[in-house]
Amino acid sequence: MNTLFDEIKIGSLTLPNRIIMAPLTRMRSEQPGNIPQALNTEYYKQRSSAGLIISEATQITQQGQGYPATPGIHSKEQLEGWKDVTSAVHQNGGRMFLQLWHVGRVSHRSHQPNGELPVSASAILPKNSGTMSSDWKPVALESPRALLIEEIQKIVQDFKNAAENALAAGFDGVEVHGANGYLLDQFLQDGSNKRDDAYGGSIENRARFLLEAVSAAESVFGKDRVGVRLSPYGTFNDMSDTDPIALFNYVFDQLSKKQIAYVHVIEPRASSAGGSDSSNQDAPSTSSLFKSRFNGAFISAGGYTYDLAKEAVENNSADAVAFGRLFIANPDLVERFKICAELNKYDRKTFYGGNEHGYTDYPFL
Ligand SMILES: Cc1cc2nc3c(=O)[nH]c(=O)nc-3n(C[C@H](O)[C@H](O)[C@H](O)COP(=O)(O)O)c2cc1C
Repeated sequence: MNTLFDEIKIGSLTLPNRIIMAPLTRMRSEQPGNIPQALNTEYYKQRSSAGLIISEATQITQQGQGYPATPGIHSKEQLEGWKDVTSAVHQNGGRMFLQLWHVGRVSHRSHQPNGELPVSASAILPKNSGTMSSDWKPVALESPRALLIEEIQKIVQDFKNAAENALAAGFDGVEVHGANGYLLDQFLQDGSNKRDDAYGGSIENRARFLLEAVSAAESVFGKDRVGVRLSPYGTFNDMSDTDPIALFNYVFDQLSKKQIAYVHVIEPRASSAGGSDSSNQDAPSTSSLFKSRFNGAFISAGGYTYDLAKEAVENNSADAVAFGRLFIANPDLVERFKICAELNKYDRKTFYGGNEHGYTDYPFL
């Protein structure tokens, strides 16, 4: 029987435990330029005892940005900033993947090059969704512009360039963000993809962009240093699909064939973006539905407590478990779990933006 504290091999990397730090957007990069800075280095360094740290979502281009002060991986300065982060994490004994992100329609003109309209699979406005402008004002989304095929190819190349920058910045691998209603998810699910070309219609066509982005990442890091995040049944950013089982079975089969290191799947019982404290226990269990479809490591996330995670790893419904909000408030989460110590409580008011308060000042044991 495996436990949370056992080693696990994920691709070519051996993790000392199965307690993963989930990707967490914190909107604290240096401005202007969306550059990782000393404060961010300190935050990640504090969390180096995680089996693996997955970075906050990081835009692959300016077009891929959707919120203020999220870091990028497309400029020289950003690459240099990330180098400091990875070397601090490595020096402290940790391992770190970068999450590659393009938000698609979940953006605002103030983040876009030349104030252009955000892009997506189809010109469909997500309901009940919004973001924040570059000057931190809550703003409604606009109906996006559907990407041309040549532009999709260009974004695949952007994924490749971003992966090259991630490699140069010292990351151990990359996670392609295919979850939570951002660009790749907008192509996957038929609520947001009404295209009738090679990137829409059939499941094979809707999955094409994701698989091309994954291939681009693989071409840089090798298949055993690439993971993919997915959120079947997630509704954040107004996502929906008419047949999630068929869609995601196909995606997991294809990712299995590619032999990538891991899939990272969000349980829909928790709001996939951690936006609410309640949990929907009637939601389908994606680890039960999909774990057997994937032949690499299966990381499960979403609403895990220590007890739920222990049970999931012990009964083999997950190979490892990612924690989001608990890692925000507990830099030494692994140690606290090990000795069953009390946990610090997170403060939702300091999730996004600000300074060290609610970021690097949560106490260690
Ligand atoms: C403040 C905050 C920021 C998040 N940012 C990201 C992100 O950048 N990328 C991502 O894939 N998920 C993101 N999520 C979702 C988390 O990774 C995780 O799936 C979610 O919080 C549920 O896990 P939890 O119950 O352990 O918190 C974010 C969640 C929170 C609370």
